[in-house]
Amino acid sequence: MEFYRTKDNENMADIAAQIFQRQLEQKLDSVLGLATGTTPIGLYDRLILLNKKGILDFSKVRTVNLDEYRGLTPEHEQSYRYFMNSHLFDHINIKKENTNVPDALKEAEVACREYDELIEKLGGVDLQLLGIGVNGHIGFDEPDTVFPKGTQCVKLAQATIDANARLFNDKSEVPEYAITMGIRTIMMAKQIVLLANQSKKEIVEQAFYGDITPQVPASVLQMHQNVTVILSGE
Ligand code: PGA
Repeated sequence: MEFYRTKDNENMADIAAQIFQRQLEQKLDSVLGLATGTTPIGLYDRLILLNKKGILDFSKVRTVNLDEYRGLTPEHEQSYRYFMNSHLFDHINIKKENTNVPDALKEAEVACREYDELIEKLGGVDLQLLGIGVNGHIGFDEPDTVFPKGTQCVKLAQATIDANARLFNDKSEVPEYAITMGIRTIMMAKQIVLLANQSKKEIVEQAFYGDITPQVPASVLQMHQNVTVILSGE
């Protein structure tokens, strides 16, 4: 594991952007696993800039996002499809048909099975971006008694609903369920980068220097061969 403590969020985004740049230089048609949330926005801004400058080419890139709120349409402003379009995909030369977010409107079992099949068909994820929840979740894989395997429909933990309520008009609007990639799929990514700002310092330390336990889902990453953690000082 490589562990960076950066002075601020800008510096965190710079280091993450360099990792993405290296990945695309090595493999133009990379499969990128992407994440939503406040933390990756600085990285996405940099990827847009590098694309506009002609340094990064996304024309052959395929993407799979970690998760989606159940029941939200792609046009809903809080859906993760909307987030990805507005923070990244609408501004780079990626083909929209090469971007994938779990289908939150389909019957859950079918949506989960199809998402796993899709990831397998793509040959797995080359570089997976992760954030971390205040409770140690990655994707929406919440603390549990076992590490979940494939894509699954989950009931969000109260801590997650509370943390994400800031983005909705009212807490009651936060969906209770989501579809999320499972831990096995995340662990199968060839490379993983986890970004966390200072507010996540304690849970990051617990996840990476504490016991490996499904009660802290991110702790499983201690067993991954190629993981970079970037903790910002801000
Ligand atoms: P955040 O979310 O980047 O908005 O803090 C991260 C997460 O919950 O995984």
